[in-house]
Amino acid sequence: MVDPRTVPAFSLNNGLSIPCIGMGTFGSDRVTANEVAEAVAGGLRAGYRLFDCAACYGNEAEIGREFRAAMDEGVIVRKDLFIMSKVWNDMHRHVAESCKKTIADLQCDYLDMLFIHWPFPNYHAPFCDVNSRNPDSKPFSVAEFVDTYRQIEELVDQGLVRSIGISNMTIPKLEAVLDKLRIKPAACESELHPCFQQQDLFDYLKEHDILPIGYMPLGSPRRPERDILPEDIDDMHMPELMAIAKAHDCHPAIICLKWALQRGQLPIPFSVHNYEANLRAAVTEKLTDEEMSVIATLERNNRLVKGQVFLWAGANDWHDLWDEDGVIPGCTDC
Ligand SMILES: NC(=O)c1ccc[n+]([C@@H]2O[C@H](COP(=O)([O-])OP(=O)(O)OC[C@H]3O[C@@H](n4cnc5c(N)ncnc54)[C@H](OP(=O)(O)O)[C@@H]3O)[C@@H](O)[C@H]2O)c1
Repeated sequence: MVDPRTVPAFSLNNGLSIPCIGMGTFGSDRVTANEVAEAVAGGLRAGYRLFDCAACYGNEAEIGREFRAAMDEGVIVRKDLFIMSKVWNDMHRHVAESCKKTIADLQCDYLDMLFIHWPFPNYHAPFCDVNSRNPDSKPFSVAEFVDTYRQIEELVDQGLVRSIGISNMTIPKLEAVLDKLRIKPAACESELHPCFQQQDLFDYLKEHDILPIGYMPLGSPRRPERDILPEDIDDMHMPELMAIAKAHDCHPAIICLKWALQRGQLPIPFSVHNYEANLRAAVTEKLTDEEMSVIATLERNNRLVKGQVFLWAGANDWHDLWDEDGVIPGCTDC
């Protein structure tokens, strides 16, 4: 077990503190809810205190049972946990209802952070095919995003949520909304791994004192089929990364995590087999400056979650979701 007191923490812009590494809980349509919950149970006992959950992962009730069991057994107390969850796209108009269900499922009384999972309400069903489209999908709207965000602000006022998170944002979307929010977002969850570093977004978040949380920190080798394209790069097989792992006598996954931590982002690796080793990465020797510089050169614009299933009628292709030209396609109130 890793002593949780030895795991460093980040300070959030609201004065709260968050462990520097967390456990992801998305089974990627491959790992069942019970298997994920079992990993969470093991993770709690291995020393994890931060868990990245989401309503749409379909496993919050199973995970909640493990939180409750660990509390009943005296393994943890609620205040030592940092529990994050996310409002799914079909609940943007019903945030309180979604949040209360998540809190009941996770059996956790309040959420340490609640995210808007995606900045638009475009819904897709679990296990859907990459070509599936929801006819109700719409482009990003500032007014709709701010309305959803305000509902979370009210939950903060009521004490049900401690911090607000945003996810899958871009700089143009952040520029469009940040000055309209009463409570500043404490963190932004984005895809971040050695071959997809999003340096501009990372820098923007740091400049605005919003903690970057990196999802798919290992390049998600078992992501859902819909997110796999032949041109995708396997981060953990980059020769430079493998050489650094060899020098440290560890798996390349551990190097990805150490790089993330030393860069200043919070990684949330998912694992059912290797979670203890991943947590240990936060408390063992650091990478050298030279190794950090080598990993900085591995950027390949290797976006793995393209998000095709969120496209609206009239959109060109998945690039429209990421505002690559600095404008937000289809937005009528930006
Ligand atoms: N906000 C969002 O929109 C969003 C999107 C995607 C993901 N997320 C969050 O980010 C989390 C992580 O993303 P992810 O699960 O897609 O990808 P990931 O953490 O990059 O990769 C997970 C995979 O890596 C393997 N792995 C983990 N540790 C390893 C190690 N030490 N050695 C070898 N293999 C290892 C795991 O296999 P084993 O199980 O066999 O160890 C698993 O197949 C998710 O669970 C979710 O919480 C958020």
